[in-house]
Amino acid sequence: MATATALAHPNIAFIKYWGNRDQHLRLPANGSISMNLAGLTTTTEVSFSDELPGDMVELNGRLLAGPELQRVSDFLDCVRRMAGVFKPAQVRSENNFPTGAGIASSAAAFAALSLAASTALGLDLGELELSRLARRGSGSASRSIPTGFVEWHAGDDDQSSYAVSIAPPEHWDLVDLIAVVEAGHKSVGSTAGHALADTSPLQPARVADAPRRLEICRSAIHARDFDRLAAIIELDSNLMHAVMMTSNPPLMYWEPATLRIIKEVPAWRKSGLPACFTLDAGPNVHVLCPSSAADEVRRRLSELPGVQQILQAAPGGPARLVTREG
Ligand code: PMV
Repeated sequence: MATATALAHPNIAFIKYWGNRDQHLRLPANGSISMNLAGLTTTTEVSFSDELPGDMVELNGRLLAGPELQRVSDFLDCVRRMAGVFKPAQVRSENNFPTGAGIASSAAAFAALSLAASTALGLDLGELELSRLARRGSGSASRSIPTGFVEWHAGDDDQSSYAVSIAPPEHWDLVDLIAVVEAGHKSVGSTAGHALADTSPLQPARVADAPRRLEICRSAIHARDFDRLAAIIELDSNLMHAVMMTSNPPLMYWEPATLRIIKEVPAWRKSGLPACFTLDAGPNVHVLCPSSAADEVRRRLSELPGVQQILQAAPGGPARLVTREG
């Protein structure tokens, strides 16, 4: 039986992508920049065997069925076509963080699956090829393949749309404190959300201005300029949520506790505590800060009403193979 196990981290986008130019190939409307999240991991074991009746996928001990299973099977078909091997697969995947609450679980899941499945089928893919492959499962997964701080070049076809590292994890001692205000599964997943992006009259303006925001974010990371990073991250998050709120039907991911946090954090920054916020397609708030400010930011967040839990992550490494005991 051909088996491999891989580990990947989720990532938090500093400059978001929202909307696809090609839904099937998952070619994004705009480029994006993110940071991998060490401490949060998905570990995925894949085995291919003719003995299996069909693809079997287990996520945190739960057997997937229906559209969830179909999505993974369709992705595995991409890998099987690349390898020219058409055996069914058994996939076992575990997250050490809550699934489906704006913590980009699909990014880590499809990054780990790309590496484990391609290795199990004997393919020896380089980082670019893996990033392209991961993109087919979930766009943001392309960014969980390379290490540290990562930029996904939107590209205009399958070949040209992939992510690369722009700085290693040790480049900048940032911390992501994730204030969980709701740990349940989000109501509208990102795949459905991307399809609505073009119904917002604000989306063309958001996309047209993306190269400017990418440039500011890239240079702020290179210079380790927190204030510049903070301003562009918050603007970008607000732009994406403005598009979400003005799509048809509108997507409103915020909870009252979300708004409370995103009003507090810029006020803390103004008074000298370096911290900024960003949100994915969910109500939880990622609060970024230099590690020297993490204890104080964490303390203040824990005092805000509605904050149920705070997860902490540092800049993370690339998707990688692991050996499993037993
Ligand atoms: O690639 P997906 O379907 O997981 O979409 C990710 C969308 C956001 O997290 C909201 C933005 C981003 O760039 O990660």
